[in-house]
Amino acid sequence: MAVVVGIETSCDETGVGVVRDGELIGSALASSLDEHARYGGVVPEIAARAHLEALGPCMDAALTQAGITGEQVDAVAVTAGPGLATALQVGLAAAKAYAIAWGVPLYGVHHLAGHVAADTLAHGPLPNPCIVLIVSGGHTSLLVVRDLVADPIDHLGDTLDDAAGEAFDKVGRVLGLPFPGGPWIDREATAGDRAAIAFPRGLMRPGDPPFEFSFSGLKTAVARWVERAEREGTPVPTADVAASFQEAVVDVLVNKSLAACAATGCADLVIVGGVAANSRLREVAAERATAAGVRLRVPALRYCTDNGAMIAAVGHMLFVSGAPADDLDLGADPSAELRTAALRAG
Ligand code: KG4
Ligand code: ZN
Repeated sequence: MAVVVGIETSCDETGVGVVRDGELIGSALASSLDEHARYGGVVPEIAARAHLEALGPCMDAALTQAGITGEQVDAVAVTAGPGLATALQVGLAAAKAYAIAWGVPLYGVHHLAGHVAADTLAHGPLPNPCIVLIVSGGHTSLLVVRDLVADPIDHLGDTLDDAAGEAFDKVGRVLGLPFPGGPWIDREATAGDRAAIAFPRGLMRPGDPPFEFSFSGLKTAVARWVERAEREGTPVPTADVAASFQEAVVDVLVNKSLAACAATGCADLVIVGGVAANSRLREVAAERATAAGVRLRVPALRYCTDNGAMIAAVGHMLFVSGAPADDLDLGADPSAELRTAALRAG
């Protein structure tokens, strides 16, 4: 029985998770979101200080929920990147201290591999191979994932400009919604008409790169539309704009993901990351995957956005696979590309 603790501090969520034999037995999450709200984005120094204050209590809460003490932990995993440098440093320092105190190995983990592994917590081991769509605040990628911790991760395509979550957040700002805009747009859109405004679908024309994404044109189109309405003195139909924008993003994401399944002959699609919490994305992906004969997996809502459980899940896979542990000089890699689940930044 292997018990692995995971620590996540790459952005504004302080997360600790405890995984025993692939099953989540304890977790705790604290967020400094409210402290960033008035700045319209995450402020690195505020996030780092909040992690410092929240990590100890989160660790205690997660271990208590798991019904174990530190002595029963077999390994510690921590997000080494990508993310905010100051925020990552707090998690790394804490993880090293716990690893030394408990006399157990330390594993640096790639944050995005954590998002992928989040799906295993409810649904068990990932199909090998599978197509993975990662849609988070900073990244949008279509991947071929085989053995998540043993094999290199292939990128079929990435975003050429804004990430999907970033587009949600920027459009949220244009519509005067609180930060981050994603969940608010999701909520607003339920009362709106998805067909009200025909916003552009990026890189969907014949001849465009099939698996790359572009959302900056869409974001600009929404901003122009709203500006024109304001100039003309007509009230901005927030729900319609939100629903139409969301539909454009979802349409592109699902189209390209299913095209990737068709092109690779892979009938398993996994959608992960913060934007995978989007209700319309979950709905459209489920409908179209079924129609295309593709099996779809999306993590439970609370494991889509950042958490410690997902890092523990990767750490657990690394530990049981016998992967080499990291040295205590493990450093942060704020802009790490996703090539392997283990992240050895020295
Ligand atoms: O994965 P995540 O928690 O953090 C990063 O690694 O970036 O993703 C955060 C992103 C934000 O851009 C947020 O607006 C978006 O996920 N998000 C959503 C929803 N919930 C979170 N976007 C659309 N609909 C949602 N329900
Ligand atoms: Zn994330």
